[in-house]
Amino acid sequence: MARLRNKVCIVTGAALGIGHACAVRMAEEGAAIALFDVHDERGMALAQRLGDAGMPAAYWHVDVSSEASVQNAIDAVVERFGRLDVIVNNAGIAGANRPTHELTEAEWDRVQAVNVKGVFFMTKHAIAHMRRNPGGSIVNLSSIYGLISAPDIPPYHASKGAVTLMSKTDALLYAADGIRVNSVHPGFIWTPLVEQHLRDSGVADLDAGRRDLDRLHPLGHVGEPDDIAWGVVYLASDESKFVTGSELVIDGGYTA
Ligand code: NAI
Repeated sequence: MARLRNKVCIVTGAALGIGHACAVRMAEEGAAIALFDVHDERGMALAQRLGDAGMPAAYWHVDVSSEASVQNAIDAVVERFGRLDVIVNNAGIAGANRPTHELTEAEWDRVQAVNVKGVFFMTKHAIAHMRRNPGGSIVNLSSIYGLISAPDIPPYHASKGAVTLMSKTDALLYAADGIRVNSVHPGFIWTPLVEQHLRDSGVADLDAGRRDLDRLHPLGHVGEPDDIAWGVVYLASDESKFVTGSELVIDGGYTA
């Protein structure tokens, strides 16, 4: 239960969904956890809960699409916890569900700003700190839709394709520094993002929508946030010390 002992880890988008599960599991594995999000109420509540259970945790309001916000918070984490070992670039949005010819430039840009530039800003400002310690790990949340596509949410699929290759490029760039970079590719995981995506797609009955998503996965159901969190714990820990530039697919068989 201490696979991340002595590691200082940042999780972005930690207030809800997959990021929340990652933060909890990583804290239980002994990490000191910095929670970055824009949902202050939920983010602070999680930091409080972890702290009350004796796990070092703190929350920062960070919009990952703002370079200044990211840089200031990363510096504050290092000042507070003394080092930085792991970042989990999880914050992401699905965006508008319309075909390419109906999208506005602003809709396109917003998704890239959070999902792509967010990973860029986080990585850019974490590297200098991570270089100081051995065993650094960057875990980027891509998607099955960073490997294959689907006829909906075009900006999202473009953004996740970008994250897949950004991960490989950074894996090559920082291997000599002992920093590993890997991407994680979830199938559908039942979170607020998926519920919102169904609503945006005109699905009124969320239970029926969920059953439709279940059928896309050969294992017969959508996943839960912990299914991803355990993969992230593995990639964050030294158990994966020979793994870099890899794609960890956790999708109930969707892409098989
Ligand atoms: P979610 O919507 O349930 O949670 C996302 C979290 O990110 C929220 O706490 C939100 O406040 C935060 N966030 C949003 N914009 C932000 C910003 N600009 N700066 C900081 N924080 C921000 O999403 P979910 O489902 O947990 O997804 C997490 C990641 O996993 C995303 O990158 C998503 O694309 C990816 N993913 C999710 C899948 C799913 O089925 N849920 C499938 C494949 C990938």
